[in-house]
Formats: sequence, structure tokens, C-alpha cells
Amino acid sequence: MLENIYFNGRFILEAEAKISVKNKTFNYGLGAIEGIRGYWNVKKQELFLFRLEDHYRRLLNSCKVLFIAIPYTVKELCEITVELMKINKVKRDIYIRPIAFINLPSLRPDLFETEYGLTIFIEEATYVVKPAVNAMISSWLRIENSTIPPTVKSIGGYLNSALAYSQAIAEGSDEAIFVTREGNISEASTNNLFMLKNGELYTPPLADNILEGITRNTIMTIAEKDYSLQVKEMSIPRSELYFAEEIFLTGTAVEVLPVINVDKRTIGTGEIGPITSQLQRSYLEIVRGENVKYMGFLTPVYN
Ligand SMILES: Cc1ncc(COP(=O)(O)O)c(C=O)c1O
Repeated sequence: MLENIYFNGRFILEAEAKISVKNKTFNYGLGAIEGIRGYWNVKKQELFLFRLEDHYRRLLNSCKVLFIAIPYTVKELCEITVELMKINKVKRDIYIRPIAFINLPSLRPDLFETEYGLTIFIEEATYVVKPAVNAMISSWLRIENSTIPPTVKSIGGYLNSALAYSQAIAEGSDEAIFVTREGNISEASTNNLFMLKNGELYTPPLADNILEGITRNTIMTIAEKDYSLQVKEMSIPRSELYFAEEIFLTGTAVEVLPVINVDKRTIGTGEIGPITSQLQRSYLEIVRGENVKYMGFLTPVYN
């Protein structure tokens, strides 16, 4: 099960996919990825892929910045992904990882190449996190547009996330929050951040070096449409975070993840906040195809 992957134009077994050790992406991290989820709805006997087109639009945008000219449209990428689900007979929650890479064994770290590759593999979605986490501000600053563009989901950019996350774990925390050079909150290692203060929701703007998360956008939509909560995209100075009534992180993998402590300072009551809980519940209904209003976010695989 799940052993079939898409690899450079063909569906093959994962074990048959071969990349040279001289491969440029393997050597320098020059490539782009996506992370997509599929949710199995038992009642409807349907697999729903969440915001598939938006993920592939972001992948093609990442590729554009990196001069990686993979020859696919968003529509074709969606069709390939649906086909991959069928070939693997996926009937459970799933995580999908597309990778756009340079398909050449050349050791000059540049982006102008003639051959590009695309692979898509899938894994059982078994990402287990605590119901709520403690976070710390990382001493690693977030990458920025003058170094590695944070709005591009580049493979190389994940070194920044890995350093911060690993530091957090090594220091007994669950998650790392980046600040910018100016000391504003950016995002967590692989998630966007929201803060509730005086009953209003805030999230850092793109200018504070975030990846423009699809979950972030979904939460902004739900908050505004269903809870009449206008989300303000505003720079958040580090110290403001400690005064928050609620904090939560958003991302494809963690969905909506409450943060109850930052730098050993209790956030709000130290319990999961009511707005966080409501948004989390709404999000989980939507992704699984249990909210008719948001079926437009979903690509059904079997019907
Ligand atoms: C750095 C970073 N920020 C935010 C996110 C959340 O983005 P999304 O909601 O599109 O998964 C991710 C996950 O891909 C990420 O790696």
C-alpha cells in the first residue's frame, strides 16, 4: 500500500525511483516542495484533497522564483494527484508530498538548467502532536527576502526551520517561533501564527517573512465569514505575544495547534482558548467534507 509514486512522467514503485548522488537538488537543496493533505470521510466513503489547486499554484510560484520549469499546469498536477490516490487505493487520511527538482548531476550551484523533475509521493497522515504546545522564541532569525525568500517553499529554506525546531526540542520546548531582524514575530518553524488580544485576531503580514500558509488563509476566511472576526495582518513585536489571550499555529500538518506557553510565560489562562477551539473545530469539519459551505475547498477523488 502507498508504494506507488509519480516520478518524472510515470507512476512507478517507490523502490524503483532512482536519483544520482550527484543530483544537484540532492547536493544543494535547489528545489521546491508542497505538503498537501487528504481526508477520508467514512460516512461519504470519499477521500477529499484539501485546497489541491491552491497548493499546486503555490508550487508553480515557488518554481517560478527558482527558475525550475516543470512542464505542468495546475490542472495537470491535480489530475496526476487524483490518479495517484486511485492507483494506491487510498481510503484513509493521507499526506502528499510533491517535489520539483533539478534532474541533473551537475555540481555548480546555479538555477539555470535544462532538465527538471517532479515526483509526488504519499504517506499515511500520522502526524501526532500534543493537544497544546509550549513554544520558545528561537535564537535563529527567520530567513528573509534578501537571503532566501520565505514565501517560496524551497527545500533549502527548511534548514532554517530545522535549526529552530531542533533548538526548541533540545531546550525542552515543543515548537520554535521565529522573529525577524527587527524583532517582530514571524511564524513558527513550519506553521503560521495567530494571536488573540482584546478579542481581536492578529497574524503577521507577508512582510515579516512568513510563508503564505493555505491553512492561514483558511482560518482567516472562517474567522471572518463564520465568526465575524476580522483578522488583522499586523507586525507583532515579540513582547506583545506574552500578553496574548490566546495563541495558535496553523499548517497543513498540525491543522490548528494551540500554544499555551511562550518562553515559560503562560498564555491567557494556560488552557486552550475558546476562540482557538471553535476555529479548530470548524477547520476540522471543513477539511473532512462536513461543512457544505466549504465544499469548494475540496477535491473528491472517487466521485
Ligand atoms: C515555514 C512554514 N510556514 C507555514 C506553513 C503552513 O503552510 P500551509 O498552511 O500552507 O501548510 C508551513 C507548512 O508548509 C511552513 O513550512
